[in-house]
Amino acid sequence: MYNFSFQNPTKLIVGKNMIARLPQEIPAGKRILLTFGGGSVKKNGVYEQVKEALKDYATVEFWGIEPNPTVETLREAIALGKKEKVDFLLAVGGGSVLDGSKLVAAGILYDGDAWDLVNTPEPVTHTVPMGTIITLPATGSEMNNNAVISRKATKEKLPSNYNNPLFSILDPQVAFSLPANQIAYGIADTFVHVMEQYMTVTGVSQLMDRWAEGILYTLVDIAPKLKENQRDYNVMADFMLAATMAQNGFISMGVPQDWATHMIGHELTALHGLSHGHTLVIVLPGTMSVMRESKGDKILQYGERIWGITEGSREERIDQAIAKTEEFFRSLGLTTRLSEEGIGEETIREIEDRFNKRNVAFGEGKNITGAVAAQILRERL
Ligand code: NZQ
Ligand code: ZN
Repeated sequence: MYNFSFQNPTKLIVGKNMIARLPQEIPAGKRILLTFGGGSVKKNGVYEQVKEALKDYATVEFWGIEPNPTVETLREAIALGKKEKVDFLLAVGGGSVLDGSKLVAAGILYDGDAWDLVNTPEPVTHTVPMGTIITLPATGSEMNNNAVISRKATKEKLPSNYNNPLFSILDPQVAFSLPANQIAYGIADTFVHVMEQYMTVTGVSQLMDRWAEGILYTLVDIAPKLKENQRDYNVMADFMLAATMAQNGFISMGVPQDWATHMIGHELTALHGLSHGHTLVIVLPGTMSVMRESKGDKILQYGERIWGITEGSREERIDQAIAKTEEFFRSLGLTTRLSEEGIGEETIREIEDRFNKRNVAFGEGKNITGAVAAQILRERL
């Protein structure tokens, strides 16, 4: 196990009707900026619950943080927050609303342009305090300091870091209203978050491996159950907590991490608008296949423990594990090939070029360069 330090300051408040607890979490007298997406919270009753809980506070509302939140929209929210002199932020929505609000929380206290904050290598920690109500299990944004922000003008999508939310409310009932495709993307995103932290090398931490496998196993088990009945409270509760636990640092203590699949996926979203979880299921089998030499032992462990693969030569078992992974993604109802989305060689060359220009390399071995990313994508045509 490698050396590490760990601290996750977000308080989780989990369960039925917990939105009513907001006044216990936000100090009296705070002037709150409420941030929302496109309106799903008005249809599923979440908005009413928030307004009722906050009836004794001064609130200002910002609507319209879009999926894959853009700096262009967030600049407007920052301007509103500054004008209204807010001193607390409550983000209500999916990962996009939460991510976007993290930038807003920093932008309100910053005089320059918000895109500067996205390009800051260190976490931006001078922020307005923020709480969240997550309505879509997927990103883990409710319990981490990450935000992925897009810039329409240049078709870029880049990760950056801020402060963790002070608290996050997880009421599984609010996710009952999700469209089936968002549940599929959310399961895929959660699964791949685990894989980014697990699918590296063997023998570093048995504990981290078992925690990660516990989440993967749970997702494989609950995916068909959610498809059958997404209003099953206990199943949705497990999904919601799985998403949080997959991306809050608990499974990455002292172990190497990859994240190449995500970084390649962000480019597919930036260039073609594909949903985040969808990009991951297209890319991940390629990452496993191209990196099969360095990841081989871990792929075998994963194949055996998650999919029960024990027969065949080493190469055959690796192939089976990758095939099972893709089969699982397809069982969610998602396409897994670039060609199915009309994406081809031109995009692959553009992504290779972008990575080369940024001079970046990803993966636990920092060896997934532009050229290797292109190789991964070519396997997915
Ligand atoms: O905008 P509204 O009307 O609220 O509708 C949203 C949106 O259209 C809808 N939705 C959310 N909750 C709902 C609901 N519809 C019905 N009922 C509900 N309860 O779902 C749509 C998608 O929402 P979005 O927030 O975009 O999805 P997600 O949570 O998957 O977030 C994706 C964004 O998070 C980033 C992604 O790159 C992407 O930009 N990520 C953030 C991470 C993090 N902070 O750690 C890590 C991830 O890897 C990811 O990169
Ligand atoms: Zn993700």
